[in-house]
Amino acid sequence: MHPGITVVGSVNADLTMTVERHPLPGETLAGQGGLVKPGGKGANQAVAAALLGARVRMVGAVGDDANAAPALVGLKESGVDLLGVATVPGPTGLAVIVVDARGENTIVINAGANAHVDARTVKAHEELIGGSEIVLLQGEIPRSGFEAAVHACQGRLVVNLAPVIEVDPDCLRRADPLIVNEHEGALALALLTGKEPPVGISWQDLTLALREQGVPSVVMTVGPEGAIIADDSGLHEVPSPQVVAVDTTGAGDAFVGALCWRLTEGDSLVDAARVATRVGAHACLGPGAQPSYPRQGDELPEVTP
Ligand code: RIB
Ligand code: NA
Repeated sequence: MHPGITVVGSVNADLTMTVERHPLPGETLAGQGGLVKPGGKGANQAVAAALLGARVRMVGAVGDDANAAPALVGLKESGVDLLGVATVPGPTGLAVIVVDARGENTIVINAGANAHVDARTVKAHEELIGGSEIVLLQGEIPRSGFEAAVHACQGRLVVNLAPVIEVDPDCLRRADPLIVNEHEGALALALLTGKEPPVGISWQDLTLALREQGVPSVVMTVGPEGAIIADDSGLHEVPSPQVVAVDTTGAGDAFVGALCWRLTEGDSLVDAARVATRVGAHACLGPGAQPSYPRQGDELPEVTP
């Protein structure tokens, strides 16, 4: 088995503008920026893990436009194996991101080439996926590609259901862990139960409820509060370092990539999350997603008691 992580997921070009505050509908505001940087939840998570020292392979697609090269630059520089990344006719996935003075963002996405990561594409890489220690998925590829990757996985499946896409609930029941934020968690629970998403439920109860639906382990990220984890060993709360955020774009992806890296190093889920919250906090300190990720050996923010 390949001692490492295979990410089946999205590759985007991120076009970021920074503004004092978000525009209202119909409003035009002055902002700064305009450089195209590498992004996409799949690529971000792959790069985060690779920069920290994991062996990572990527299955995905870019278009044949000018955004393909900047979208791939982080994957190339961090040494991610790109044999599974196809070039298809049409645009590369594009995310238009607006970040305000508090570091909060809004994002509009055109899936572009990521829409090609369907069952056919994934099945073409079945052997590679089946031979991986960890298979890592997000919700930025078509349902059929997601489900084909779950079926091809013979190692440990890690699912970050961001954004939430409607998939066979039995696929989520193989996620170890399923990683969600509180909104995604409520929608994931609705998928698993076939009922309306719960309202007014505590983070802890939501995390436990997901696990009670047959998900082997659950990690709920709760922003600056850190993460809540439910697994065989019980319910755990892992704090995050407190930082002044410059740009939170892709901080969740840094968390997921770092968590998978630690799992390949043999950490327990809780120990892995302790490192991952610090990596996620580090990613809030600089602009953009991948450009703000730490490398192995970089100093990470500390949790203060
Ligand atoms: O999670 C952040 C990412 O979401 C960005 O890089 C953007 O490309 C979108 O996919
Ligand atoms: Na950042």
